[in-house]
Amino acid sequence: MNGVRTPVPGAAGYAEAADSLIESYESISFEAIYGPLLDLLPQVGRALDIGAGTGRDAAALALKGFRVHAAEPTAELRAHARRLHPSPAVTWIDDALPDLAGLQAEAIRFDLILMTAVWMHLDKDERERALPRVAELLAPGGRLFMTVRRGPVPPGRRMFHVPTDELIAAAEAIGLRVLRSFGISDMLGRRDVSWTMLAFERENRV
Ligand SMILES: C[S@@+](CC[C@H](N)C(=O)[O-])C[C@H]1O[C@@H](n2cnc3c(N)ncnc32)[C@H](O)[C@@H]1O
Repeated sequence: MNGVRTPVPGAAGYAEAADSLIESYESISFEAIYGPLLDLLPQVGRALDIGAGTGRDAAALALKGFRVHAAEPTAELRAHARRLHPSPAVTWIDDALPDLAGLQAEAIRFDLILMTAVWMHLDKDERERALPRVAELLAPGGRLFMTVRRGPVPPGRRMFHVPTDELIAAAEAIGLRVLRSFGISDMLGRRDVSWTMLAFERENRV
């Protein structure tokens, strides 16, 4: 991208914290996070990791045989990700919700999209714009896995409470069928933080 990029509101605080976040983000595995959804994982294909952070999940999917696009608006995190997980199967892009404009020219459709710990960074208007865009990026029958954080907002970050029923209703209205939705405790052991994990499937008719 050329010129000065408009800051992504949801990414507030991540550039400054990037160095200190590596250890915790890399201390958990893709398998540990998405264990309860692994039986729903498509048999390889194309994957998109939105808000890919340090690249943990993108790299894990590449090792499983997926061709991965990893979208991450925080340059400092992208740099760590490229260093920690160099992989020819992962294409890193500087891109963000709600529009993911960088993917528009490519017209790729994905068999799997991940949004791990990202959705609560978007305000209501952004979420309303982002969900149809994510659905559009899924191939028919493609799956969306996501986790949504609940709990106090860390200093300097921007987060919102996202009601699960609102998310599911919005998804189903645009042809994303909910396959699973449940609460989990925090894998980093924070007692005041919990998560909702969801899996959706894009209906063929969308
Ligand atoms: C809690 S981190 C999660 C990183 C990674 N998915 C993981 O699970 O380790 C949230 C990530 O979302 C990114 N982010 C924030 N707002 C975003 C937006 N509007 N679009 C895409 N990514 C965003 C941040 O830069 C950050 O990397």
